[in-house]
Amino acid sequence: MSDELSALAREIALEVGALQRERFHDERTIDTKSTPIDLVTDVDHASERIIVERIAAARPDDGILTEETGLARTSSSGVCWIIDPLDGTTNYAHRMPHFAVSIGVEVDGVREVGVIYDPIRQELFSAQRGKGGSVNGRPLRVSRATQLDQALLATGFAYDRQRAAENVEFFTRFLGRARAVRRAGSAALDLAYVAAGRFDGFWEMHLHAWDVAAGYLMVEEAGGRVSDFDGGPAPSSGERCVASNGALHGILLAVLA
Ligand code: IPD
Ligand code: CA
Ligand code: CA
Repeated sequence: MSDELSALAREIALEVGALQRERFHDERTIDTKSTPIDLVTDVDHASERIIVERIAAARPDDGILTEETGLARTSSSGVCWIIDPLDGTTNYAHRMPHFAVSIGVEVDGVREVGVIYDPIRQELFSAQRGKGGSVNGRPLRVSRATQLDQALLATGFAYDRQRAAENVEFFTRFLGRARAVRRAGSAALDLAYVAAGRFDGFWEMHLHAWDVAAGYLMVEEAGGRVSDFDGGPAPSSGERCVASNGALHGILLAVLA
């Protein structure tokens, strides 16, 4: 079943990514959500509509959890799709070409499929439990860095200024110890890049299920590790999560302690 789910996820990500690419330079409607810096565009909504329609048409018994709608459909099949239709909305709103479609699929609560598509670079990252991952056909493999001063790390900040400030202390600690730290604006791509060995590690404090559902599996299938800040199971909620190439994991946790 995971082959079928993965094929559908990839097909939908490519279709929706093409729409995001085509509309990238268009005028757009930008609204705010929970805070004045938490944005949503007409393209986020249009993307989500298409994704939900496609899944519902192909697999009417599956559940669908999405960022903009919440629980769009409940599952009677044991399969649940967890979707961020456009991860990196602030970038998209400002026409910064770094964002992605993120689609994770769980079967009976276990992450089975992850697909992340960067429509601008046209990179399709995909992973299936037990089968590894690939980006445009090349295998995904985490980096080999074993020391923090050789590591390129990534993080992000919540859209609530008070919660964002909670990460400043950690950001400062890593700036002093890592080779460099990036805040590129798409957690899904941050995780895909850890899986691809481009980033050596990633942490963030207040993500959501749709930001991490695909990326966690991708990192694990590429030989890396995901966890909470204490080294326990990676929270499906996306709160306080760490991803790494595995070799650096303990060092990252020590800095976050
Ligand atoms: C955001 C991005 C960003 C992260 C934020 C997320 P959105 O998702 O992943 O990198 O730092 O915490 O909310 O709103 O662009 O889908
Ligand atoms: Ca997101
Ligand atoms: Ca989003």
